[in-house]
Amino acid sequence: MNSLDSITALTSKKQQADLNLVIMPGDGIGPELVHSTVQIMQQACSMTGVNLNLSEEPGGAGVYEATGAGLLGGALDRLRIADGVLKGPVGLPSVRKPDGTEGGLLGGLLRIGLDTFANVRPVRLRAGVRAATRAEPGSIDYLIVRENTEGLYLSRGAGVRNHHAASDQMLITREGTARIVRFAFEQALRRSGAPRDGVRRVTCVDKSNVLRSFALFREVFDEVAADYPMVEADHCYADAAAHALVTEPERFDVLVMENFLGDILSDLGAGTVGGLGMCPSGNIGEDTAYFEPIHGSAPLIAGRNLANPVSQILSGAMLLNHCGHAETADLIDSAVESAFAGGHISILPTGSPAGGTEAVTETVLNHLSVD
Ligand code: IPM
Ligand code: MN
Repeated sequence: MNSLDSITALTSKKQQADLNLVIMPGDGIGPELVHSTVQIMQQACSMTGVNLNLSEEPGGAGVYEATGAGLLGGALDRLRIADGVLKGPVGLPSVRKPDGTEGGLLGGLLRIGLDTFANVRPVRLRAGVRAATRAEPGSIDYLIVRENTEGLYLSRGAGVRNHHAASDQMLITREGTARIVRFAFEQALRRSGAPRDGVRRVTCVDKSNVLRSFALFREVFDEVAADYPMVEADHCYADAAAHALVTEPERFDVLVMENFLGDILSDLGAGTVGGLGMCPSGNIGEDTAYFEPIHGSAPLIAGRNLANPVSQILSGAMLLNHCGHAETADLIDSAVESAFAGGHISILPTGSPAGGTEAVTETVLNHLSVD
C-alpha cells in the first residue's frame, strides 16, 4: 500500500467504522427483545457512521433440547473472534437435566468458557420510572460488580447428592478475588461517586463474619484497596446490604461481591429502579465480552408483545460503549432517558410496558432522531 492509499484507508476507516457483532436471541422473550434492540442499534449506528455487521449464533434451552448441549460446536470460538456479543435471556423451566437443574442456561458455558470474570450490572433510577420504593431519580445510581467465574456457582453441575442430601461448595480464590476487586476499583475511577456525597467508593459485600471463604474475599479486598487511596474502601455484610440497598441506596457507588450474592442483590436492586426489565448487564473478560438483560426468558409472556425490552436495549448500549462507540451508545441511552422522562414509555405494575414491546421500540427509535 503506498502512502496515499494508506491515508485514504485511514480516512474511510474513521468515517465508517466496522463493528462485527454476534447476536444470540435465546429462549422465551429473548428473540423479541433482541429484535427490538437490533432495530435500535442499526439506526443509531447508521446515524453515527458505524457499519454494523451482525451474525447469529443459536444457544439456550431450545438448542439443548434439540442437541443435548446449550451451544453448537465451535460457538465459543465464533464468539471470541467477534467484536462483541448481544445475548437474549435463555432457559425454559420445562427443559431439565437429569440432575433436576435447567438445561441450556449457558451461565457456566459462556462465563467460564470465555473467562468473562466481571459481571457488571448498573442499577440506576431514571426520571419518569415508577419505582417500588420512595427513592427520587438520581438517588439510585450504583454499579454491582459480580464475580462471574467462581463462588458458589462454580459448583454448578458438580455438587453431590443422593436421595437424602445434597451439597454444593463455594470456591473463593486469592487470584479470582484480586482481579474482580481490581476491576471494581478501576470502574470507580471512571465514575463520579455515590449520589449521597459524590465520594468514589467501593463496597465489599460478603458474610466474612460467618464463613472463611468470605473472610478470604474481604482480606484480598483490603489488600487491593490499599492500591487505590483515592477511592473509599467500604464494607457491608450481605444481609445488611440487602437492607441498605432499599433504605439508603444513595450511599452506594460500586459494590463488589461473590457470584451468588451478586445474582441475588442485583435482582433486589432492579426492584428499586422499575423492575428486572430495566436492568442491563455486561459479562466482561480480558478479550471477550457479552451483554444481556439480568432477567430470565419469561416463557409465559413470550411472543405476546408484553415484554419490556429496555433491559436488552440498554445492554446493546453497554455493548457499543464497550466496543469504543460511546457516541452511539449515548444516543441510545439518551433516547431511553428522554422517552421515560417525557412520559412516552411507562411500565405497568405487571412489569409490561404500556402499549407493548413494539411500542417501546418505536418510541426509542423516534427519540433517536430527535436531536
Ligand atoms: C443471571 C441469571 C443466571 C444466573 C441464570 C439464568 C443462570 O439469573 O444472569 O443473573 O444465575 O447467573
Ligand atoms: Mn439472576
